[in-house]
Amino acid sequence: MTRYQEIQRHLSERQYRWLITGVAGFIGSNLLEGLLRFNQKVIGLDNFSTGYQHNLDQVSEIVGPSLWNNFEFVEGDIRSLEECKTICKNVDFVLHQAALGSVPRSIDDPILANDNNVTGFLNMLVAARDANVKRFVYAASSSTYGDHPGLPKVESVIGQPLSPYAVTKYVNELYADVFTRCYGTPSIGLRYFNVFGPRQDPNGAYAAVIPLWVSALIKNKPLYINGDGETSRDFCYVDNVVQVNLLSALTDDPAAINQVYNVALNGRTSLNQLYHMMHALLLDRFPHLESHKPQYADFRDGDVRHSQADISKARNLLGYEPTYAIQQGLQAAMNWYVQNLK
Ligand SMILES: NC(=O)c1ccc[n+]([C@@H]2O[C@H](COP(=O)([O-])OP(=O)(O)OC[C@H]3O[C@@H](n4cnc5c(N)ncnc54)[C@H](O)[C@@H]3O)[C@@H](O)[C@H]2O)c1
Repeated sequence: MTRYQEIQRHLSERQYRWLITGVAGFIGSNLLEGLLRFNQKVIGLDNFSTGYQHNLDQVSEIVGPSLWNNFEFVEGDIRSLEECKTICKNVDFVLHQAALGSVPRSIDDPILANDNNVTGFLNMLVAARDANVKRFVYAASSSTYGDHPGLPKVESVIGQPLSPYAVTKYVNELYADVFTRCYGTPSIGLRYFNVFGPRQDPNGAYAAVIPLWVSALIKNKPLYINGDGETSRDFCYVDNVVQVNLLSALTDDPAAINQVYNVALNGRTSLNQLYHMMHALLLDRFPHLESHKPQYADFRDGDVRHSQADISKARNLLGYEPTYAIQQGLQAAMNWYVQNLK
C-alpha cells in the first residue's frame, strides 16, 4: 500500500477540519474537491482577486449536496490579520494557497505582490501559530531557484531571484523556517513547478501557458511562444499537487516536517514539445487545427530558461508518487478545457 493510499484510508475513518486559503482559485478549488471527496470538513477563504465563484460552483456540482454541506466559505482577505485570526480558529490543518501568482504581474506591480504574498503570508503564519494548528502547509514556488543553472533543481541549492514574485515566495520560506525556530510552528513548504489542470484560469494578461494555449487553439486564435520554444518546464498535473498537500499535512515523521519540497514530475518538456502534444490532443476534435502554426515572440523578462525538479526528497520523506504523467494530465485537463471553453 502506498503512503497516499494509507492516508486516504485514514481520512475515510477520521474527519478533520481544514482551512484552504485561495479556495476559489485553481489549486485551492482542486484541494477543496479532493478533501470533500474524502468527507473532510473544510473552511475556505478567498477575496476573489484572481479566483472565481464559478470554481466553487463546479466543485459543488461535482461532489453533490451532501458533501458540499461540509464546506463553509468566507469571503475575506489575508492582508487583514484579524480575518486570518478568526478563520484559523479550531482548524487542524492549513493549506495556504492564497497569493498573487505570475512573474510578469509582480514585475508590473511589486508592491501589490508584496502585500499579498509577504504581508498576507506573515498574517496567516501568525494566525496559524496562535491557533496552534497541527500543520501549516504552504504554496512555495520553483521561482525560488532563480538564476541557478543547475539541473535538476535540488531543494538546498538556489540562486538569485529573477522577479519580485520569486522574492516573495522565498521570503515565505524564510518566515516559515524562522517561525519553526522561534515558536515551533510546524510547517511544510511545497515548491510547485508549473501546475496545470481543470479550473486554471485561461483568461487575462497573466494566464499560465497551458490554459492560454488551449484557449487559443480551440478558438483558432494566434498562439505565441516566448523565445525559440526550447525553454523547458516540469509541468505537473494538479492531482499530484493535491496528493502532496495531503501527505504533507498528515506526515508524522519529524524529519519530514519543517522542510520545503519540490513538487513536479522530474520531467523536462520544451515549449515546442508542449505545443505539439496539445495540438495532437485537440486535432481530432478541432479540424481547423490541421493548418495551425505557433508564432514566436520575444523572451519574457524574469523567465528562467530551464526548470526541472529533483523530486527524490518528496518521494523519500513524504512518500510522494505522482500518479499523473504530463500526457495523462494533459488529456484530463483537455477534456475540462474543451467543455468549458467551447
Ligand atoms: N499554478 C502554478 O503553476 C503555481 C506554481 C508555483 C506556485 N504557485 C502558488 O500556488 C498558489 C495557488 O496558485 P493558483 O495557480 O491556484 O493561483 P490562483 O490565482 O488561481 O489562486 C489564488 C487564489 O488566492 C486568492 N487570493 C489572492 N490574494 C488573496 C488575498 N489577499 N486574500 C484572500 N485570497 C486571495 C485569489 O482570489 C485566488 O482565488 C499561489 O500561492 C501560487 O503562488 C502556483
